[in-house]
Amino acid sequence: MTARERATASARGKVILFGEHAVVYGEPAIAASIARGAHATATRLADGAPSVLYLGERRVSTAPSTPSELGDDLQRAWSALIAAAPCPSVDVVATAELPPGGGLGCSAALGVAIARALAALDDADDVGDVDEAATIAARAAAWERVHHGNPSGIDAAAALHGGCFIYTRAAGARPLRLGVPLRLAIGWTGTASSTHAMVDSVARLGERRPAVLARSVEAIAALVRGAEHALQAGDVDGLGKLLDLNQILLAGLMVSSEAIEAMCASARQSGAYGAKLTGAGGGGSVIALIGAATEPAEALAEREQHVLDGWQQAGFSGFAVTIEGLDP
Ligand code: PMV
Repeated sequence: MTARERATASARGKVILFGEHAVVYGEPAIAASIARGAHATATRLADGAPSVLYLGERRVSTAPSTPSELGDDLQRAWSALIAAAPCPSVDVVATAELPPGGGLGCSAALGVAIARALAALDDADDVGDVDEAATIAARAAAWERVHHGNPSGIDAAAALHGGCFIYTRAAGARPLRLGVPLRLAIGWTGTASSTHAMVDSVARLGERRPAVLARSVEAIAALVRGAEHALQAGDVDGLGKLLDLNQILLAGLMVSSEAIEAMCASARQSGAYGAKLTGAGGGGSVIALIGAATEPAEALAEREQHVLDGWQQAGFSGFAVTIEGLDP
């Protein structure tokens, strides 16, 4: 086995195209990785030293020195990731290109990038790829459990596998081949959303009104099945309608917000085929379907600019991405 002193790795963020929240209750959701994510560099420390993570302005250690650091989510997630498998003492410097709480899988991308950097420290000849992949997944899951409470695992699956896929808790990720690559605008409401809090709020709604939750989850599941076919067929009109319908169902689960509704309405008025929140909601991000990436470039670029300008005029930022069936 060749040991390295330092190793760097990356992982992608994601958008959930259809099916968030219902996926927590065992139904399928469709997600796609995006070409923005997280990066991590791991460096070996002297044996026995506490392992340290630097993330932006934050520094956390597996041996916290202050009581406030002990209860901190980042510190607990870091310790859980390190404890998930045997590992030398390390320091890790991590960065993310996604807004935290943006619904774009920032924390999962960080967890996977860090876990990959740790794995890459051991250029392991004696460990099979399967074991290495399992260790990375276990570390990322330990990190995500602290951040998300009861994660379906869809964010970690996007960061681990990339591409576009259909996901269930029971079966994991199954790759989805798109009929056409899609151009999406992703808009940031400016307000971080807590996945943990939003998942809990849907669970509480379910306790108060079980029939409402059951009907919504069932309707979202039916819509995801339709979306799978529309994605495979490259039916952009159909996909736009399904995005709008999914947004109505999410609003019924009380996970929309004024900013989300304003951004979806603005995108539709600017020519998007459809729009919805992506991720947990309550804040975070929205997606708007600009069109098939194969449409004539000028018309597509003009529509995209309209959507992004509309958001900017209303005080929201955004960017555009192309979703491919498989990672390039
Ligand atoms: O906000 P995000 O990107 O973590 O997405 C959460 C998606 C949910 O379905 C609401 C929760 C989950 O764990 O799947």
